Amino acid sequence: MDAGQAFAPVLRSGDIVLLTGALGAGKTTFAKGVAKGLGVTERVTSPTFTMVREHHCANAQGIATLHHCDVYRVETLDEVVDLALGELVEESAVALVEWGELAASVFGRDVMTVDFVVDDEDGRTLVVDGELASQRAGELDRWAGR
Ligand SMILES: Nc1ncnc2c1ncn2[C@@H]1O[C@H](COP(=O)(O)OP(=O)(O)OP(=O)(O)O)[C@@H](O)[C@H]1O
Ligand SMILES: [Mg+2]
Repeated sequence: MDAGQAFAPVLRSGDIVLLTGALGAGKTTFAKGVAKGLGVTERVTSPTFTMVREHHCANAQGIATLHHCDVYRVETLDEVVDLALGELVEESAVALVEWGELAASVFGRDVMTVDFVVDDEDGRTLVVDGELASQRAGELDRWAGR
């Protein structure tokens, strides 16, 4: 959760971040941290069954809304297209999408991917990639403590 909270300053309005990794790898935990870092005060729970939850944010970055999605259970890509996340994030918002790789074609190239890898000792390695990640290299380095 701390990693997620520290990640929040990397985000800007309009960003879509795909959270990928095995079942239980820590995607929701990270999203809770990001929410905290963006000034969400309500409880953040897994959107596995609702597909998307919307949280009001209060922060100096001007991000007013966090859309927290989970596309694990979607049956067709149309369901993800219908969410219109690309349009939603244009309104001072960002989106985190758990299992986003399952619908990567819907989001196109201009996204960031955070992949959660569980190691032998139950630790986590976070691997960040994507077009948006290259644009935020400086912020990401700061996050990674480089
Ligand atoms: N960085 C971490 N280090 C150790 N344990 C963690 C870490 N992040 C999450 N966990 C633990 O892993 C479990 C599953 O976490 P979480 O629900 O965030 O995973 P998830 O990737 O969202 O799962 P799902 O694929 O079901 O959506 C929780 O019990 C959580 O406490
Ligand atoms: Mg989850």
